[in-house]
Amino acid sequence: MKALVYHGANNKSWDEKPKPQIQQPTDAVIKITRTTICGTDLHILKGDVPEVKVGTTLGHEGVGIIEEVGTAVTSFKKGDRVIISCITSCGKCVYCKRSMFSHCENGGWILGHLVDGTQAEYVRIPFADNSLHHIPAESDEEALVMLSDILPTGFECGVLNGKVAPGSTVAIVGAGPIGLAALLTAQFYTPSEIIMIDPDDNRLEIAKQFGATIIINNNKENAVDIINKHTNNRGVDTAIEAVGIPATFELCQYIIGPGGTIANVGVHGKSVTLHLENLWAKNITIKTGLVDTFTTPLLLKTIKSKKLDASKLITHRFKLNDILNAYDTFENAEKEKALKVILINE
Ligand SMILES: NC(=O)c1ccc[n+]([C@@H]2O[C@H](COP(=O)([O-])OP(=O)(O)OC[C@H]3O[C@@H](n4cnc5c(N)ncnc54)[C@H](O)[C@@H]3O)[C@@H](O)[C@H]2O)c1
Ligand SMILES: [Zn+2]
Ligand SMILES: [Zn+2]
Repeated sequence: MKALVYHGANNKSWDEKPKPQIQQPTDAVIKITRTTICGTDLHILKGDVPEVKVGTTLGHEGVGIIEEVGTAVTSFKKGDRVIISCITSCGKCVYCKRSMFSHCENGGWILGHLVDGTQAEYVRIPFADNSLHHIPAESDEEALVMLSDILPTGFECGVLNGKVAPGSTVAIVGAGPIGLAALLTAQFYTPSEIIMIDPDDNRLEIAKQFGATIIINNNKENAVDIINKHTNNRGVDTAIEAVGIPATFELCQYIIGPGGTIANVGVHGKSVTLHLENLWAKNITIKTGLVDTFTTPLLLKTIKSKKLDASKLITHRFKLNDILNAYDTFENAEKEKALKVILINE
């Protein structure tokens, strides 16, 4: 079969590889029908995630059809259509028992990281019973790829950790797919204002269409001043960091109001200054998190009932064997006006 293989920093290729086999009775092998590329794959290709071994197939998102299951798999059978969760969970360890699947002692984020991932014609999924979700009949499967990672991430790490509430004020720093997923799912709770901050005008325009009430280009405007003006100098109740650099976490500290919550979603490679001299008396909470994907079933229901339109996040489509061009488009997201890029394997 064909797979997108990591060969070290800045080096990937579309290679011939053996089709994965069942290794444990709890495994399933899936034929990928749709997959996508994540910002995290770009981090890996920059060499930022050194534990990824040369020869690993990248990708941790996708949907497909079960090709084969191990003898211990009871919830899925050959031919079932499934969503692959970016987080693998054994269902038995102390963290799985607390629904903190991201820290599963036998899984967690391993796909396209510690084991071969989904940017391939076939993938082996460990602990299939706990790491896959059935696709309801007549679903838009392409839209369900957004449930592998970005929707649960925006919702769990941004909206739920950020305690978004009816009538509250929310600022989201970063209007990439994750920030936009937080914007879409924040609206379940009807906050009174959702302020979106990004230097990319195209993404801000999309954010407006998706329901942002105020957009701020922080390359051209002063985000702190504008937010103060709109909140009677109180600051926001929730500040969601969806970029992953020191400047954006600092910005969250300047715009958070008394009693508010900063929810960090971005993956940080550098340390950040904590301004306790300003924040010590503000009664704020800072939350961090890796996505657990415990909300995937709930989000699937909101998509099925059309309360949430996940397909809006998809801007480009390529054939799976054209994945190198898809990477080029995704790497030049601003110029290409790209959000999520779907790869089709038929
Ligand atoms: N915590 C988790 O479990 C988890 C899961 C998935 C992704 N992530 C992380 O979430 C972050 C966002 O992911 P994404 O796929 O949307 O990334 P992305 O790179 O597509 O989007 C980031 C956005 O931030 C904007 N930006 C850059 N500098 C900025 C600044 N100074 N101020 C405001 N905006 C700025 C960019 O224009 C871009 O629109 C990444 O760090 C990613 O690794 C975390
Ligand atoms: Zn991802
Ligand atoms: Zn576990």
